[in-house]
Amino acid sequence: MSRPRGEPRLRSVRIADLAVILEQLSDFWQEGRDMGFLHQALYVHEFGETSVLAERDERILGYLLGFQAPGGYGYVHAVAVRGEARGVGIARLMYERFAELLAERGAHSLKAITAPENSESRAFHAALGFSEELVEGYSPSGGGRIVFRRALSAQP
Ligand SMILES: CC(C)(COP(=O)(O)OP(=O)(O)OC[C@H]1O[C@@H](n2cnc3c(N)ncnc32)[C@H](O)[C@@H]1OP(=O)(O)O)[C@@H](O)C(=O)NCCC(=O)NCCS
Repeated sequence: MSRPRGEPRLRSVRIADLAVILEQLSDFWQEGRDMGFLHQALYVHEFGETSVLAERDERILGYLLGFQAPGGYGYVHAVAVRGEARGVGIARLMYERFAELLAERGAHSLKAITAPENSESRAFHAALGFSEELVEGYSPSGGGRIVFRRALSAQP
């Protein structure tokens, strides 16, 4: 079955993509937040099979870096959609692909985290049916994080 016209193509992330993303980081993340530290090469070299990238006409619209954690859940390390491409379901599409990839590998649930002030991320995960829990002292700096979880069988 062919994809509807205009729907982004999904594939895994390559090292060359990380270079483009790092050059254009402020298009994917809020100004003033240096999120470069999330984009280590290991997420491609070691966990590339469970990464997801959305592109149209060879332009990167969004990406998800994630892997299967030893606890048997899929962990989303980073997800971002280019500012101009938000609000049309691209992150949802990437999460659906990640959920399929993890289900094929025997995972039972998904986990992601965010800073408590990231209201976009909290609204997005709520829309996808994730529960949220504030875990104090999650970070070595003492900062708390919101932990999102969802069973892989739950499909909102
Ligand atoms: C969070 C983010 C990835 C969402 O990407 P997106 O492609 O715009 O999200 P989608 O269009 O797939 O939205 C899916 C659902 O989430 C909801 N949602 C997404 N962003 C929202 C927002 N800012 N406010 C309210 N709801 C939101 C949508 O309404 C949609 O619900 P629906 O399907 O029931 O209509 C994007 O805002 C982003 O890249 N933010 C900067 C990077 C970041 O903070 N990443 C998260 C780190 S944990």
